[in-house]
Amino acid sequence: MSMKHESTFFVRSALDTDYLAFVRLFPELQVDDPVPSLETWTAGFVPSTLVATRGEEVVGYCYFQELRETGYVRNIVVAPAARRLGVGRTLMNATANQLRAHGKSSWRLNVKPDNFPARFLYERMGLRPQYESKSFRMPWVALNALPPGTSFVREPTLERDGELESAFELPRGQLESARGLKRILLEAVSSTTQRSIGLAVFDPKFPGAFPFRVKDIEAVATLLAAMRQLVPADEHVGLVAEDDERLVDLLVGLGAICRDQILHMAGPL
Ligand SMILES: CC(C)(COP(=O)(O)OP(=O)(O)OC[C@H]1O[C@@H](n2cnc3c(N)ncnc32)[C@H](O)[C@@H]1OP(=O)(O)O)[C@@H](O)C(=O)NCCC(=O)NCCS
Repeated sequence: MSMKHESTFFVRSALDTDYLAFVRLFPELQVDDPVPSLETWTAGFVPSTLVATRGEEVVGYCYFQELRETGYVRNIVVAPAARRLGVGRTLMNATANQLRAHGKSSWRLNVKPDNFPARFLYERMGLRPQYESKSFRMPWVALNALPPGTSFVREPTLERDGELESAFELPRGQLESARGLKRILLEAVSSTTQRSIGLAVFDPKFPGAFPFRVKDIEAVATLLAAMRQLVPADEHVGLVAEDDERLVDLLVGLGAICRDQILHMAGPL
């Protein structure tokens, strides 16, 4: 009788000393980003990462963020030689247990639509596709072609995070988490109605904004101009249009290049 090989894997919290394994595994995500530094690993990943081990060897990791009510799986990678043995499922189950233990009732993640191994795994874990997004790289010169906005930009105070999260349909706690990661929050406000019409979570190091959400397309010019002032020397900016064809059309019209499609999946815990 042929039996599927069930090796013994253990899952534990990540340690600073797992950095070399992380350096080996991270490129498997096939994103353009360079491997995060040891400092970023230690401060940003370790507190919120589980690793799977087989003997002494780290064969996979799952990095997630905990928001107020939901968990956000940011990376999951299994070493090529250890795939299809249940490591991914074991890591996802352990992550789900930890999130449940911390009171989360749902979880979510982003995946490339053509990454079927990952999508099958997530489907098996009860996650379902919610919407598609596109990430863009836009030359800053494109901004010259856009009529200046009539809205203005402000940096929203901490107290308004909840209000803005509901207005822009973000999970509760995402803005607080962004602040913790030193992102700059920019809110576009209509000069006529005084209402919030756009929100960008800007990372000057990238440089780029994600989320970048607009209720009124007019907010795009205002937000981009404010971002531009923060990084006057860069040539390009990264932007993600989430479930927003109007924004996609505008960015493509301006000469932005679509770099990736992203499928957002979510499910109960
Ligand atoms: C996605 C990934 C983490 C899956 O890890 P894994 O350890 O191989 O997954 P598991 O063995 O636990 O598989 C669990 C289930 O997922 C599904 N699955 C996983 N890989 C699959 C594949 N290549 N084809 C079809 N289904 C697959 C199956 O339903 C599988 O259950 P089964 O083996 O009982 O049929 C792994 O392929 C990987 O590291 N890929 C590269 C990095 C990556 O793309 N990460 C996701 C970024 S969003």
